[in-house]
Amino acid sequence: MCGIFGYRGKDLQLVYLLEGLKKLEYRGYDSCGVIAYNLGKFLCKKNSGKIEELKESLTDKLNNKYSSALLHTRWATHGKPIKLNAHPHKSSKKNIHVVHNGIIENYLELKKKLKKKGYKFKSDTDSEITANLIASFYKGSIEEAVFSAVKKLKGAFALGVLSEFEPDKIIAVRHKSPLLIGAAAEGFFLASDLPAIVSLAKEAVYLKEKQIAVLSAEKIKLYDFNGKRAKVNKEKINIKTVSTNKKGFKHFMLKEIYQQPKVLRDTLDIYTKNNQINFGQLKLTKKYLKGVKNIFITACGTAFHAAHVTKYFLERHTNIKVEIDTSSEFRYRDFNVNKGDLFIAISQSGETADTLAALKKAKKRKAKILSICNVIGSSLARESDSFIYTPAGPEIGVASTKAYTTQLMCLYLFCLHLATIKNTISKTNKNNILKELFKIPLYQKKILRQNKKIAMIAKKFSKAGCFLFLGRGINFPSALEGALKLKEISYIPAEGYPAGEMKHGPIALIDEYRAVVCIAPMDDLHEKMVSNLQEIKARRGKILAIINPADAEIPSFSNQIIYIPKLKFQEISPLLVVVALQLFAYSVAKNLGAEIDQPRNLAKSVTVE
Ligand code: G6P
Repeated sequence: MCGIFGYRGKDLQLVYLLEGLKKLEYRGYDSCGVIAYNLGKFLCKKNSGKIEELKESLTDKLNNKYSSALLHTRWATHGKPIKLNAHPHKSSKKNIHVVHNGIIENYLELKKKLKKKGYKFKSDTDSEITANLIASFYKGSIEEAVFSAVKKLKGAFALGVLSEFEPDKIIAVRHKSPLLIGAAAEGFFLASDLPAIVSLAKEAVYLKEKQIAVLSAEKIKLYDFNGKRAKVNKEKINIKTVSTNKKGFKHFMLKEIYQQPKVLRDTLDIYTKNNQINFGQLKLTKKYLKGVKNIFITACGTAFHAAHVTKYFLERHTNIKVEIDTSSEFRYRDFNVNKGDLFIAISQSGETADTLAALKKAKKRKAKILSICNVIGSSLARESDSFIYTPAGPEIGVASTKAYTTQLMCLYLFCLHLATIKNTISKTNKNNILKELFKIPLYQKKILRQNKKIAMIAKKFSKAGCFLFLGRGINFPSALEGALKLKEISYIPAEGYPAGEMKHGPIALIDEYRAVVCIAPMDDLHEKMVSNLQEIKARRGKILAIINPADAEIPSFSNQIIYIPKLKFQEISPLLVVVALQLFAYSVAKNLGAEIDQPRNLAKSVTVE
C-alpha cells in the first residue's frame, strides 16, 4: 500500500533518501516518485514501476545532496498505475507538491469546485486535489493553507506537503492514516511506517489523529487542525532494524516459512516461565478476565484466520461466547459489544485501516481492547488497553506466514491462561496441551524437511485450473488459509470450505481437472473427512491429503499425501497443517514463475478501507 518517506535537515544524498523509500517497498506498490530541494534547485521525478527503475533514471543525480524531500510509493486506488498518477502531485498554480496516503472521499466534489476556480488536473487520482486545494488557500504561509485545506477534506489522509515558495519546511498531516517523524542528528525523517526509519532515527514522534507537523531544519512544531499548538512527545524507538537479507533463500516468503520453528520457540520463551504460562505484562487483571462473558475478535486476511482458530479453541475450553468477524464487516455492523466485553484485534502490521476502525468502534462502546500485533509502536498497539506482542520479527513477504503462526501461538497461550483463570480447564489438561505446544517447533521442522517432496507434489498440481481446500472443525480455518495463500501468490482460483458444506455447492466443481486439498488429521472428525474424500474420489477429483502417518484409510484414495506429525491434542494441529500448506502454495507459485514476495495488486499493509 502507499508509503510516504520524507526528510528535512542537513544535506543528504539522494541515494540515501531513496534507500529510505526502499524500506517501504515490502508494503506493495506499483509506482513511485520524489520531489527534493536544495540551494534553489528542485528535483522532481516519477515513474511507474519499481524504485530501482526510478533510481536508474536518476543515476547522474544520486550523489546530489538535498535538505528537503518527499518520496512516495503508490498502490493504485483511483486511476491506473501509470507515471501520471504517481506522486508527488503538483498544484496547477502556486507550485505546491503533495504526497498522499489514504482515500479522499469527497474528491470529485472538490475537483469540480477547484476546476471552476481555474485549477487544472492531470491525473485520475483523488490525491491530486489535495495539492490544488492547498494552493487555493495559499497566501504566503504553507501551514496556514494546510490548516484551511484539511477542514475541507473527507476520508483518510496522511499528507506530506512541500511548497516551492517555502522549501525549507515540510508539512505533515495525519488523519486516519498513520504518519510519524523520526528525530536524528542530521534532521527529521517523515514516514508512514516505523520500519522505514528504525535504522535512521533513535526517537520518534507519532502524529496523533488530526495533527499537523511543520518540520524545519532544527524544529518540529505540532498543531491540531485548528492551528492550535500541541506538545511534541519524542519516544524512544525500541524495535530492531528490518532485515532485508534473504539469507540464502530464494524468496523472503520461503525464509519466513523456515523461521517459524525459531519464532514460535521465542514466543514460548516470552510467554512462559518454568514451563507455565506467564502473561506478566498483560494489563488485563485476573479479576477482569474471570468475569468476562463475551469476546469479540476481529482481523483481516490471514490474521482473521487466526481469529477463527481461536474461536474454536476458546469455545472448547471456556464458557465464553465468542464472536468473530472480518474488520471490514465489524466496523459497519451493529454488533452487540458492551462495557466490559473483551474485544481482541489481531494484526501483523498494526496499521490495517479496517481493524483500527473496528477497534475504535468497540472502544467507544467501552469494551476492553486487547491487540495481538507484530509491531510494538504501531497504531493498533497504541490504541489498545492491552497488547500481546508477537515476536515474529519483520515479515517482508506480502503473504503472511510466520506472523500467522506466531499469532496462533500467542492466542493458544492466552486462551489457556483465560481458561485457567476461569477454572474451565483442568490443570492436567492445560499442562498437557502446553507440553505439546512446546513440541510444535520440532514438529514444524519435520514438515520443513519434506520441502523437496512437497515441491514435487506441487509440480503435479501446478496445472490444476482451480483448487478446493476442505477442512473441518478447527482445521476449517486452515482450509481458508491454505486457499488464501495459494490464490495470493499463484493467482489460481482457490476456495476454502468446511468439508461438511461440500454437498451444498462446491461438489459441483469436482471433476478430473480440479484439485482438492483435504486436511484430515486423525481427530474426532476424521471419519467425516474420510466420507468426504470418498465422495471426491467417486467424482475423479485429484486429491492432495494432509494427514497423519498413522492414517490407514485415506492413503488408498488420495493422489498425493503430505504427512504431518500426529498430535495428542489435534486442536493445536493448525500450527502444523499451515506449514505444509504454505510450502505447497509457495512451490506451486514458484513453478508458475509468479512474483512471490510482492504478488500483483496486493499490499502488505492495507492502510485504506
Ligand atoms: C493484507 C496482507 C495479508 C494480511 C492482511 C491483514 O491483505 O496482504 O497478508 O493478512 O493484510 O494485515 P494485518 O497487518 O492487519 O495482519
